[in-house]
Amino acid sequence: MSRQGAPILEVRDLRSGYGKMEVLHGIDLVVREGEVVAVLGPNGAGKTTLLNSIFGIATIHSGQVILAGKDVTGLKPHQIVRLGVGYAPQTNNVFPELTVEDNLVMGAYMRGRDPSIKDDIKEMFKLFPEIARRRNQKAKTLSGGERQMLAVARALMSRPKLLLLDEPTAGLAPKAASTLMRKIEEIRDMGVTILLVEQNVAKALSIADRGYVLVGGRIVKEASAEELRNIEMEKLFFLGGE
Ligand SMILES: Nc1ncnc2c1ncn2[C@@H]1O[C@H](COP(=O)(O)OP(=O)(O)OP(=O)(O)O)[C@@H](O)[C@H]1O
Ligand SMILES: [Mg+2]
Repeated sequence: MSRQGAPILEVRDLRSGYGKMEVLHGIDLVVREGEVVAVLGPNGAGKTTLLNSIFGIATIHSGQVILAGKDVTGLKPHQIVRLGVGYAPQTNNVFPELTVEDNLVMGAYMRGRDPSIKDDIKEMFKLFPEIARRRNQKAKTLSGGERQMLAVARALMSRPKLLLLDEPTAGLAPKAASTLMRKIEEIRDMGVTILLVEQNVAKALSIADRGYVLVGGRIVKEASAEELRNIEMEKLFFLGGE
């Protein structure tokens, strides 16, 4: 199952947080082209902060973020997007007052008047027929599962090489969560590399190649998905190490 491409993302000894507060205390992580890499951990571990640090939202105190060999530490989100990173955040991930279709258009804002945006919207509706039917409805009227699909689709509209997903299955019933996981596999098969933050350990490990366990702002375990499936994750989450 291992996919051995070149590193698309490297995080080196990263210390970051919000303002002066340090949340991540020295994170090292690698994602290779073509992989799905899971980041697992309990509430408050710093999973979202890790994605926020990569995407230029959190404050980086020291360490580096490297995208395809280029040091991007401290760049702003709009610059990170242009370098091929898409982000579907955990919260506030759609524009509730805009229609489904306009949310997708907004996701492509950095592409200007690129005529292929229309084709990509069609592609997104093919990938997510569930939201195609609702293209003219405001995003706030969507169900939880539909909204998560829209958030992922919106992030794909910048044509990212690397997609950051923060708990895409949060709050979804098991069936909707499984459907979304299959879609994430389809996105991987389209050639997009994926860094997937999840609390749903079993679901995440069903599609991941490898994973990291983050507890208290530190990586306490890195292993193949197969190995992670066989360890007592709850214990690791609460004890923060072996
Ligand atoms: N915008 C912020 N400003 C200040 N502190 C924050 C901010 N966002 C998060 N924190 C703090 O940083 C720590 C890590 O939060 P983070 O959201 O990264 O955890 P998480 O692993 O994503 O948790 P969850 O599983 O609940 O989403 C927490 O103590 C949280 O209170
Ligand atoms: Mg979070």
